[in-house]
Amino acid sequence: MDTIRTVAWMREKAREARQEQRLIGLVPTMGALHAGHLALVERAKKECAPVYASIFLNPKQFGPHEDLSRYPRPLEADVEKLNAAKVDGLFLPDAAEIYPPGFSTYVNVGGLSDRLEGKSRPGHFRGVATVVLKLFEIVQPHYAYFGRKDAQQVRIIERMTRDLNLNVELAVCPIVRDADGLALSSRNTYLNPEERKAATVLHRALQAAAAQISTGVRDSMELQRAMHRILESEPQARIDYAEIVDAETFEPVIRIAKRCYALLAVYIGKTRLIDNMLIEPEDDELRVSL
Ligand code: PAJ
Repeated sequence: MDTIRTVAWMREKAREARQEQRLIGLVPTMGALHAGHLALVERAKKECAPVYASIFLNPKQFGPHEDLSRYPRPLEADVEKLNAAKVDGLFLPDAAEIYPPGFSTYVNVGGLSDRLEGKSRPGHFRGVATVVLKLFEIVQPHYAYFGRKDAQQVRIIERMTRDLNLNVELAVCPIVRDADGLALSSRNTYLNPEERKAATVLHRALQAAAAQISTGVRDSMELQRAMHRILESEPQARIDYAEIVDAETFEPVIRIAKRCYALLAVYIGKTRLIDNMLIEPEDDELRVSL
């Protein structure tokens, strides 16, 4: 696997691949890779060649009091995992390569970026959209792979891709979970053993909403109450939000009639975790995906 540290070299590789009519796949990450990231790589490998993964711990999507400085950076292990997954190239720029002195252009996806994650993390999605647009421009992928774990991020990248006529197809992959239901996340490494046990409460809350849906409940308030009941039963958990929203606008819904998400952001101790469940109409029923 090539490790590509400069924009110029990455562009050159992409240009060659495009000239040879090959299908470029891109898996953008911030490193600290786990099976969730590797599922994206695996899917990309099935559909594209070459497949590039990027590792860039993007400072612009972290707030001043967030965890940028302590975010895990196990680069050697990451390289090993990408090698084993037979990724063709790792794009590994440093911050000055992506944001040279004088950098001052940002992408703001209006509306969608201000709610939920965007409200709790001001500027976060501006940082995400800006770096993802740059990665698309540099790597020129035909397909880019994202996880549904970050549902609002995916929606914002879809909106940007459409609004700016970007020449890339987005592929969205299911949430990869640990055996006890906790969604894999690089941030799970912050949890002590007791918190790690408590963290299953997010999945349990979503399951409680799923159980209500299966008995015919369609009222969002009732589903939100079911999630709150479970979350509030866990002393280590502090709810940031637990909402049912429209899957396109991310606005709250009163009754579930079309595609929706149940979205959770919950602090376990000092660690902020997110999770979600997709709810989709299917033959007069609702199908849920955890
Ligand atoms: P990061 O948190 O490293 O995640 C990289 C990709 O892996 C994202 O698309 C994310 O949704 C996906 N992912 C993470 N955990 C997952 C899980 N348990 N199951 C399935 N997919 C999972 O998201 C980012 O980085 C950044 O915001 C980025 C898009 C790279 C821009 O900086």
